[in-house]
Amino acid sequence: MEKIFIGVAWPYVSGYRHLGHVAGFAVPCDIFARYHRLAGNSVLMVSGSDMHGTPIMVRAEQENKPPAEVATHYHNILDANLKTLGISYDLYTSTETANHHETTQDFFSKMLERGYIHKKTQTQHYCVTCARFLADRYVEGRCPFCSYENARGDQCDECGRPLEALELGDPRCKTCGATPEVRETEHFFLDLPEFRERLEAYVDEHHDIWRANVYQFTLNLLSETLRARAITRDISWGVPVPVEGYEDKVIYVWFDAVIGYMSAAREWAARRGTPEAWREWWEDPEVKSFYFIGKDNIVFHTVIWPAMLMGYGLGRFNLPYDVVSTEFLTMEGRQLSGSRGHAIWLPDFLERYDPDPLRFYLTVNAPETRDSDFSWSEFVRRNNDELVAKWGNFVNRVLSFTYKHFEGKVPEPADLSGEDVELLSKVDETFLKVGDLIAARRFKDSIRELMVLWDRANVWIDRAEPWKVIKTDRARAATSLWTAIQAISGMKTLSLPYMPTTAQQCHELLGLSGAAAERRWRREEVPAGQPLAKPSPLFKKLDESIVDEEIERMKRQG
Ligand code: MF3
Ligand code: ZN
Repeated sequence: MEKIFIGVAWPYVSGYRHLGHVAGFAVPCDIFARYHRLAGNSVLMVSGSDMHGTPIMVRAEQENKPPAEVATHYHNILDANLKTLGISYDLYTSTETANHHETTQDFFSKMLERGYIHKKTQTQHYCVTCARFLADRYVEGRCPFCSYENARGDQCDECGRPLEALELGDPRCKTCGATPEVRETEHFFLDLPEFRERLEAYVDEHHDIWRANVYQFTLNLLSETLRARAITRDISWGVPVPVEGYEDKVIYVWFDAVIGYMSAAREWAARRGTPEAWREWWEDPEVKSFYFIGKDNIVFHTVIWPAMLMGYGLGRFNLPYDVVSTEFLTMEGRQLSGSRGHAIWLPDFLERYDPDPLRFYLTVNAPETRDSDFSWSEFVRRNNDELVAKWGNFVNRVLSFTYKHFEGKVPEPADLSGEDVELLSKVDETFLKVGDLIAARRFKDSIRELMVLWDRANVWIDRAEPWKVIKTDRARAATSLWTAIQAISGMKTLSLPYMPTTAQQCHELLGLSGAAAERRWRREEVPAGQPLAKPSPLFKKLDESIVDEEIERMKRQG
């Protein structure tokens, strides 16, 4: 049995999240977690909402509400959306818990004591009009690396490099547009150069594990820009700095958010009444830790978080084994943009459509190794031509016909034909292939194996034609239907990591009880004589007209 810790990026709750976020981390991590649980491995998957940071402050200022209220509002919505989508976190919490604040302050204090954090007087942008120091997201300007004009103070969205706000060319205050002054203020810095050698060794060890882009990006960072980073801010929203005289500063949102991975494990353990159980997931070197993130978060997971764990744990805590980073999802060929309204909001989508077709679409068409696009016409096509016409139709045809002609029970088979045996062994082989591909984080390739099986099953049944054969040879038709039901039983489990809601539905149609997710990663035999549930379709056909409607809706938003 393997032990798998899964940390999933903590989304900001500065507004609704869009489909890009779900494609980036939530769907892949859930496929991975669900497969491993079915395979009998032990999994702990945690995440939560990233409640701090300037995007939330900006939003709160716009809405004229306290940041806590805004963050909690969007957190509740996101939490509910993630449940509807079936993302099976063992805990989805937030960074606004007492436990998280304590854990963060403990990291800070210990690292300060050990000299990994030091104090420095720093010069920083100060906006005279707004009468405040500008946190890095409040200032924009030209990227010193790639000359992109609208780089943010913390990072350039064009070249992806982390920045120091003072390096920006022609800086301007994001709130009022004024040119800020440079003034002195005191801050705490994480001494990254101190970790350079250990980080280089760590990254080197993961050469064969990380996707090429993650490895290369990290290597570039280590050779280019490794320097102490300010980890406190002059703002009022966040985890307070636990040092006397500095209580009016807060810990930088990124420093606190990554600590969420550990604080969430502690919260999970405490809630179960075994407060020390989190250690099994962090201190046992047998555990492998996987992180699922978007590509703009790589540096925080392959450099900063490992350094923090080294400094805080002194070798006791597991470093990330793999950091699975996805590229971006575009929308109808254009970059998604929350601020410009060019987006599909998760709560909106889930109000109108079922979660599994979305999970399916975002997996076959995942931005796994390069950007991919969400288009409504492709969504409708895949739903109708693949889910409804192939998988859904196979299940529905077989179960409806059996239900009607065999008293609602699984028929008794006679001898299987060569083709029957071949179909079932194909299903069994697919378990191995899909399992290996999911374990290797190749989700897109993995689902293709399942789709090949849908085609096979349909070709097989078009040849077996039990609906015709039954008129002349009832035993043969019964055998075909028995075989088809066994194939469905296998494909139901194979589909579960991708489409858990319909897998459960299919499980129940087969007359099986309990949770499909608690069965094993293999084809479970459905015995002859077992009563089937009254058949109903797994998927709904979508009308072509929604394509234009949805595109119109997006234009109105924008
Ligand atoms: N809140 C960040 C974002 O939405 C992600 C934080 S991931 C974590 O981009 F590592 F900090 F948890
Ligand atoms: Zn200003």
